[in-house]
Amino acid sequence: MAHALEAISISKTYQSSDGPNTVLRNMSFRAEKDEFFAFVGPSGCGKSTLFNIITGLLAPDTGSIVVDGSETTGRVSEKIGYVLQKDLLFPWRTVEDNIILGLEIKGVSKREARAMASDILKDYKMSGYERKLPGELSGGMRQRVALMRTMVTDPQIILIDESYKALDYPLKIELEGELLDRVKGSGKTVIFITHDIEEAVTLADRVYVMKARPGEIVEEIKIDLGTDSHNIPERRMSPHFNEYYTRIWKRIGGAHAAVA
Ligand SMILES: Nc1ncnc2c1ncn2[C@@H]1O[C@H](COP(=O)(O)OP(=O)(O)O)[C@@H](O)[C@H]1O
Ligand SMILES: [Mg+2]
Repeated sequence: MAHALEAISISKTYQSSDGPNTVLRNMSFRAEKDEFFAFVGPSGCGKSTLFNIITGLLAPDTGSIVVDGSETTGRVSEKIGYVLQKDLLFPWRTVEDNIILGLEIKGVSKREARAMASDILKDYKMSGYERKLPGELSGGMRQRVALMRTMVTDPQIILIDESYKALDYPLKIELEGELLDRVKGSGKTVIFITHDIEEAVTLADRVYVMKARPGEIVEEIKIDLGTDSHNIPERRMSPHFNEYYTRIWKRIGGAHAAVA
């Protein structure tokens, strides 16, 4: 059986006015079906660059990306859905028209796409918002619409880039719980990136800890909070939570300490 996703020896150097900036060095990892895992690392360690390479929006200098057994390096794969760091809805398109964007690109008829949008809006408890513009929605609703836009195309692999960063804490908790409900056990592969250790430990089954300059994986940690609950506060209350948190903090905080 092919892996859902494989990244093999990915390297990327940007040319900047101060000279070359090697952002990723020799990164390799694998992801399987029905996995939910995270990359955690400080700002600027190359997380978004890695995602842009996985989705094919950016070509790596070396290495390859293999999706479900086929190499896709530098090409956009239909099997991958991407929820960007900013919700990036088109402000002039209605909620419905934002949701059907990916379907339109795939060539689904407008009528069918609208029916699918209507179903998913109902599922996300946002029926009635079809004709609203993103500017009329709260931050949480916008984030939900961004997630719907990705989910409606039914991707096998979902990449989430610090989507909950700008939200206030209770809303963040609510949306994280929702995310677990929607994707855990669905057979999909979910990979998210965050600088927030708490978020990584709470949501992920596995965490890759990254360091910066150049971005590299320094540790892979399997997370077992000893509960299947999707309730975020309950997960944080797990007696194992602090142990994982401290271990990752030492890895990341320790790197800063070594520089100081
Ligand atoms: N298009 C680009 N051109 C040049 N440098 C970039 C570009 N995108 C990101 N960088 C630099 O690469 C490093 C990693 O950025 P990024 O991948 O966004 O990290 P993260 O998502 O972990 O915060 C940063 O130093 C950033 O300034
Ligand atoms: Mg980023």
